[in-house]
Amino acid sequence: MAKEITSDLSSEIRASPIRQLSAEFEKVVKNASSGPRPISFGLGEPYVMIPESAIKGAQDFLQNASKAPQKYPSNNGMPNLREAISTYLKRFGLNFQAPEILITNGGREAIMLSMLATLNEGDKLIIPSPSWVAYAELAKLRLGKKDILLLPTTLENNFVPTLAQLEATVKKVKGTMAKDRKIVLQLTDPHNPTGAMFPQELKKEIAKLALDHDLLVFSDEIYAGLVEQYKSIATYDGMRDRTIVFGGVAKVFSMTAWGLGFVACPNPNVYNLMNALKGHVSVTPTVTQQAASPAFTDPNFSTYAEKNRRMFIKRAGIVNEWAVRHKLGHSKTAPGMIYSWISVAKSGLNADEFCKKAVELRVLAIPGSGFGDAAADPELNKYIRISLSANEEDLKEGLARLEKLF
Ligand SMILES: Cc1ncc(COP(=O)(O)O)c(C=O)c1O
Repeated sequence: MAKEITSDLSSEIRASPIRQLSAEFEKVVKNASSGPRPISFGLGEPYVMIPESAIKGAQDFLQNASKAPQKYPSNNGMPNLREAISTYLKRFGLNFQAPEILITNGGREAIMLSMLATLNEGDKLIIPSPSWVAYAELAKLRLGKKDILLLPTTLENNFVPTLAQLEATVKKVKGTMAKDRKIVLQLTDPHNPTGAMFPQELKKEIAKLALDHDLLVFSDEIYAGLVEQYKSIATYDGMRDRTIVFGGVAKVFSMTAWGLGFVACPNPNVYNLMNALKGHVSVTPTVTQQAASPAFTDPNFSTYAEKNRRMFIKRAGIVNEWAVRHKLGHSKTAPGMIYSWISVAKSGLNADEFCKKAVELRVLAIPGSGFGDAAADPELNKYIRISLSANEEDLKEGLARLEKLF
């Protein structure tokens, strides 16, 4: 065709560097006939067995499917699954009823639908940096780049924004925007890529800030089930109605392959719009929904979660000890979380160069530049994310290889 057929978005939206690097790593490893075993600290997957209740849920569905033809599930998700999620969310102090929960194809679709249903031109989205990649990219569907504000965080504050910083940003932004536009705060807690958690007191203060300044909050809590006692920001006074909560099965049940997420949203207008949009785009497969449903209400959840937590605490300890030994700045990984965020500045390389050299040593780590915009937050160039999905042996071996770069 003579005409350019891609939309303008093609110059705006970048693919997930995490996925790109992981695919490149696989290619490098495949093409090299010899060398030490490849070790991936790449994708954020717990890589543990999924709950037996989920397997049984899927099996039961398949058995029935062999006996009778199947229909589309309802747009917003199957009632038993929405009930199960309503029950699950009570663990975090949340009180969302089944009709306030919409089932999506993974956490990503939950984020996209929420953004499509709430963001207007001229609204501002504040995202603490570093940040998981999808938020800023998906927000570009509705907002101009200048309305997506990445807020750099620091090692001293364990990579969570301070109240003063948020307050100053909100006030500054308010002064520049039209009165009928809104400010949305994107929180990820527990956090990808740093593994950190917001202190409870800070969440309480942010809640007050949100009330004082009429902020809408997107709270991505997809990792909440991995840590021991999580309390959502939406539990604070007045926050339920101004928070949209995202979740899913990928992390807490290690069901990354199943592609099931949800959004909890008490605002009926936003909910109905998301439901309408979802109806035009996708159906969440029944087999996935029927696997997820018993997992969310599994009576053995505590034992399952505790077992995984103990394992991730041990792995985080190995990385932490390594970082301390080499005097590398690093995040405090919340117990049970699956990421460490480590400074590689001491190597004299920036994070991209460091990770390139790591691939030569057959180790994949993700450079900080993959978690935001290094022009807005140059510190990203100093850090790498290590996913704790590698087992202890691989973790130790991979770290020993990385030592060669210091
Ligand atoms: C913070 C965060 N939210 C959402 C997701 C998306 O999860 P899903 O695989 O269910 O789309 C991820 C995946 O890595 C994530 O890190």
